[in-house]
Amino acid sequence: MTSATDFEHPRPVLVIDVGAHDVQHVARQVRGARLYSEVIGGDREPEEILARSPQAALVVGRGTAKTSALFDALNNARIPAAVVSGDAAQTSIGGRPHGESVTAPQGVASVTSATGVTSYLLDDLALKPEWTTELVIADQVHRIKEQVGSARLICGLSGGVDSAVAAALVQRAVGDQLTCVLVDHGLMRADEIEQVEQDFVAATGAKLMVVDASERFLTKLDGVSDPEAKRKIIGNEFIEVFEAAARDVVVAGAPGDEPVKFLVQGTVYPDVVESGVGDGAKNIKSHHNVGGLPEDLQFDLVEPLRELFKNEVREVGLALGVPESIVWRQPFPGPGLGIRIVGEITRERLNTLRDADAIVREELSAAGLDRQVWQCPVVLLADVRSVGVSNEERTYGHPIVLRPVVSEDAMTASWFRLPYELLGKISERITAEVPDVNRVVLDVTGKPPGTIEWE
Ligand code: XMP
Repeated sequence: MTSATDFEHPRPVLVIDVGAHDVQHVARQVRGARLYSEVIGGDREPEEILARSPQAALVVGRGTAKTSALFDALNNARIPAAVVSGDAAQTSIGGRPHGESVTAPQGVASVTSATGVTSYLLDDLALKPEWTTELVIADQVHRIKEQVGSARLICGLSGGVDSAVAAALVQRAVGDQLTCVLVDHGLMRADEIEQVEQDFVAATGAKLMVVDASERFLTKLDGVSDPEAKRKIIGNEFIEVFEAAARDVVVAGAPGDEPVKFLVQGTVYPDVVESGVGDGAKNIKSHHNVGGLPEDLQFDLVEPLRELFKNEVREVGLALGVPESIVWRQPFPGPGLGIRIVGEITRERLNTLRDADAIVREELSAAGLDRQVWQCPVVLLADVRSVGVSNEERTYGHPIVLRPVVSEDAMTASWFRLPYELLGKISERITAEVPDVNRVVLDVTGKPPGTIEWE
């Protein structure tokens, strides 16, 4: 076991983007070989690239005006380099696969497949595959301790994997200095609050404060059916409730307690990695609950997942004992079921949707499809009614829409071909078990032109 004092972060294998379609793909392949990788734009100044002290460099893309200077710089600094092309690079133009890549100058290797990348790094260069889950955890525990000292921290949990794993890492590092806050806006799915309240807490020992604000959210949402208006209300209320909770945590310390100085966030590597060549800008997601905090509640950030891809976050989560239901949870929007009720949000409609959604999730899990389906929104068309028949009686109920999709990054998506048997079973169960629903329909639209959510 590495002790905190002699810990050294592995030097990166730099994945240098010289006009590629998907450099992160190569960076993930390198991580798969248990080597730490970082993505950088090939138009950066050579000094900046070398300042990252790479163990090796992989150059990916069609090449730019600066690429030959880049090769010279790598060569002068004696950094082993390879050009990655073919399948491994996934270079493409306008979404079409495109075979061209920069030509490897003399002394620079050329690799064309994922296996080629791995064998170049591990066999030809004999780099040590040390980027293991254990090392990631040890590294972060060490860094969190160094960063926060004896100060206290808070972390907002959403029920999703990133915030849960970030909190679990911090808990492992500094224990009860951390307080987690879960805002229940009343728009969560069945069992989600309990999963955090019971399973997550039992598994990690984290201190948790659950704020039941559902009444307040539903009151504000009363009569609102415009999707963007719903988002705005939910977003604003969320900030206010979280702020109030943070203030409570800040003042609730026992006499002699250290101040709350840090906010833990589940920012992951794809949120911070550079997007493409040339722009130099970083593609950073807006952290609505940081920018929006008032002055007396300004925290420094602790972001223990900043270096990790999603699959690594999951591995770390599993190793820390975070419950599988959280680790493997599919993406779920912040505004929750609020944007899956087309029409006004009421308690009754939420209960209807919650019941239907629980059946869909149960059946998808039973069919072993959880990890193949990227996400499956279940949508209630609350303002639509259609005629049906049940027990020889006329019904006049609402349709439920199933929206199963596969995707790489949610930017584009295809509808997922759920087996007919399964669709039949889901339909029978929902119409039999959920009052007010008398039809189940399937959304067979790609993104584009449809979005994943209906609102
Ligand atoms: P769309 O519907 O735009 O969704 O194709 C893309 C991804 O984003 C999620 N989504 C949201 N997430 N707040 C969120 O935190 C939102 O308002 C929101 N709207 C959509 C959606 O579930 C999908 O994963």
